[in-house]
Amino acid sequence: MSNIPAVITGTGSYTPARVLTNSDFERMVDTSDEWIRTRTGIRERRIKEDGIGSSDLAVEAGKKALARAGLEPSDLDLLIVGTVTPDYPVPATSCFVQRKLGAFNAAAMDVGAACSSFMYGLSTATAYVKSGFRKRVLVIGVESLSSLTNYADRSTCVLFGDGAGAVVVEAGENGGKQGVLGFALHADGRHTGLLWVPLGGSVNPIRSGNVDQGRFFIEMNGNEVFKIAVRAMVSASAEVCKTAGVSVDDISLFIPHQANIRIIDAVQKRIGISSDKVFVNIEKYGNTSSASVPLALDEAFCAGRIKKGDLVLMVAFGGGLTWGAALVRF
Ligand SMILES: CC(C)(COP(=O)(O)OP(=O)(O)OC[C@H]1O[C@@H](n2cnc3c(N)ncnc32)[C@H](O)[C@@H]1OP(=O)(O)O)[C@@H](O)C(=O)NCCC(=O)NCCS
Repeated sequence: MSNIPAVITGTGSYTPARVLTNSDFERMVDTSDEWIRTRTGIRERRIKEDGIGSSDLAVEAGKKALARAGLEPSDLDLLIVGTVTPDYPVPATSCFVQRKLGAFNAAAMDVGAACSSFMYGLSTATAYVKSGFRKRVLVIGVESLSSLTNYADRSTCVLFGDGAGAVVVEAGENGGKQGVLGFALHADGRHTGLLWVPLGGSVNPIRSGNVDQGRFFIEMNGNEVFKIAVRAMVSASAEVCKTAGVSVDDISLFIPHQANIRIIDAVQKRIGISSDKVFVNIEKYGNTSSASVPLALDEAFCAGRIKKGDLVLMVAFGGGLTWGAALVRF
């Protein structure tokens, strides 16, 4: 990579006001607050209103990130949206975000790598900035997972929520210390069926003859995903630290994908980072897929958990399977 640092200069997040609690689920499916809390760590999640799209959530997060970076929408030259819940199949959600923000000088594209979409989007932004091809990029991870959730399936419906998180990535001073230090990115397409939505794509388009099957929701083999997630998040974290030449003790804050508190605890222990350096907000939002890491990053900032000079490790994991880790000096 060139010497141009890719610096995160602003973060933002947004979650819808409507709260769905574990007690609400007790009235909807055969479950209990106790089961959900002990098995997942989730207490509540946010759900968007009907008629609101992912682009609406993304715009709110994007505006905050731009304000913190001291930029106008017209300053952006690239806009990347990571999501599995686009507003429509065509066009890209990033184009709706571009219009609603008024960021008409920015090229716009979506990145799809399931829950790792933000990490893949951040790596794309970093490569564009480091190469000198772009200077100011807004990367947004956003999900309206309520639109893909089967609220009759207790094994998945309690897990997911809606939200958005955003970062501004800018070209820094040549030779500066701040910025993205590196990535570990991976995928394993042998496990596509462990976490997927079987109906509604090009192989099985929704037709009057199959719509009753109801298979246009997220289906997941939770046990298998759980085991692979722990292994993958640990190895990606170790890889990115090794490549960047930093030790776990150098890390100021660890921001893991917020899918399950037991996954987070297992990863934290295996990496060997102390629990007070781990940022967790899963109890409030559940698993927000592409929004999970940038939403947590923004909350960590707002809570004063990240200061200038801090080294932050972020790691995500999702369907595909895909996973990735990033090391950033703030
Ligand atoms: C989904 C997940 C919470 C399930 O937890 P688990 O401890 O693995 O639970 P299991 O799937 O083994 O199910 C145990 C039992 O609880 C039941 N159960 C499942 N969901 C339940 C719910 N909401 N309430 C009550 N019981 C439930 C199951 O039916 C099963 O019952 P059985 O033993 O009678 O068959 C967990 O596997 C997980 O978090 N997986 C990874 C999810 C993830 O990371 N996904 C996204 C990656 S981005």
